[in-house]
Amino acid sequence: MRSDANIAGPMADPVPGPRSAESELGAVPGPPNGDGVSRETPPPMDDTPIGRAAQLAVEALGRAGEALPRPDQTRVMVVANQKGGVGKTTTTVNLAASLALHGARVLVVDLDPQGNASTALGIDHHAEVPSIYDVLVDSRPLSDVVQPVVDVEGLFCAPATIDLAGAEIELVSLVARESRLDRAIQAYEQPLDYILIDCPPSLGLLTVNALVAGAEVLIPIQCEYYALEGLGQLLRNVDLVRGHLNPKLHVSTILLTMYDGRTRLASQVAEEVRTHFGNEVLRTSIPRSVRISEAPSYGQTVLTYDPGSSGSLSYLEAAREIALRGVGVYYDSSKAHAKGRHHQQDQHSVSEGFSE
Ligand SMILES: Nc1ncnc2c1ncn2[C@@H]1O[C@H](COP(=O)(O)OP(=O)(O)O)[C@@H](O)[C@H]1O
Ligand SMILES: [Mg+2]
Repeated sequence: MRSDANIAGPMADPVPGPRSAESELGAVPGPPNGDGVSRETPPPMDDTPIGRAAQLAVEALGRAGEALPRPDQTRVMVVANQKGGVGKTTTTVNLAASLALHGARVLVVDLDPQGNASTALGIDHHAEVPSIYDVLVDSRPLSDVVQPVVDVEGLFCAPATIDLAGAEIELVSLVARESRLDRAIQAYEQPLDYILIDCPPSLGLLTVNALVAGAEVLIPIQCEYYALEGLGQLLRNVDLVRGHLNPKLHVSTILLTMYDGRTRLASQVAEEVRTHFGNEVLRTSIPRSVRISEAPSYGQTVLTYDPGSSGSLSYLEAAREIALRGVGVYYDSSKAHAKGRHHQQDQHSVSEGFSE
C-alpha cells in the first residue's frame, strides 16, 4: 500500500510517513465506515475547476458520499500559539477548507493584523475593505464584513486589514474590551458549524478576545526544537480566561505541524507532545510539504491548489478527526471508540508542568 493510504483511514498511523512525491491522486481504497456515524450526501460543490478538483481529493480518501457529522451547536475554535511561524494560519485556512469540503459551513475570523489568512483564502483585504477591525473597534455587525470564499462552498472569511495593528491599543479604552468579538459572534445570525479564529503571535487583547469568544483552543505545534517552550504562558492565559471570563474554555485539540518523519527530532518532539497532552493530540499530523507553503501565494488553500498532495490529504484527515471528536468518536491505536458525547475534560491544571 502506498504511503498516502496511511492517512486515509480511521486506523491511520499517528503520523504520516515521509513522502517522496507530493501529488498522488489515486484510488486509495477507503476502509468500511465502522465508526457508527451516519452518512449524508454532501452538498454540491461550486462548479469551478478547483472546486471540482478539491472534491476529487475528498473522494480520493475513499469516502465519496460521506459528509461528516455536524455539531449540534457552532464550534468556535481558537487557533493560538504565541510563537510565530508554527502553522497557525496554515492550519486555520486548510482545516476550515477541509471541514467545508466535508459538508460543513465554516467561518474563518482573521484576527492577525498581517491578514495572512485572508490572503490565503483569496479574500480582498486592502485598507478600505470592511474588516474585523470595524467589528472590534466600531461595533460593526460581523455580517457586514464576512465574505464568501471563491471555490469552496460553505466557507466564509471575516478579513483582517492593516487597521487591526492599531486595535490592540485602541481596544484598551473601550467598554467590554475583552468580549467584543464574543458579542459580535453571538449576534451573528447565519447558521455555522465551525468558526475558526486565526490569532496573532502574541497574547494581547486580540488573542484574549478570541479566547473569550471560543470554547475550544486548538494549538498547532511545530515539530522543532523548543516546540514546547513558551507554551506554558499560553496555557496559563487559557486558565486565566477560563477562571475569569469564559468558564467553557478548554484546550481541545493539539495538532503537530511540519512533521518530517525522516528526522529523529520530529518524532522525539511528537512523543514529548503526546506525553504532555495525551488525548488532545490529533492522531493525524501535518507533514512538511512544499505544496502547503506554495498555496497561499496563489490565494488558495492546499485543498484547491493541489488536492491530491500529502498536505491536502492530511488536513482533510485532521478535519475528519476533529469532526468525529466533536460527537465523541475517538481513534484508539487500533479502533475508533465512543467516549461520551462531548469531550470536556477537567482542565483545572492545564498549565501545570510547563515553564516559561
Ligand atoms: N506543513 C507545512 N509544510 C511546509 N511549510 C509550512 C507548513 N505549515 C506552514 N508552513 C509554512 O511555514 C510558515 C509559517 O506558517 P504560518 O501558518 O504562517 O504560521 P503562523 O501563522 O503560526 O505564524 C509559512 O511560510 C507557511 O507557508
Ligand atoms: Mg499567522
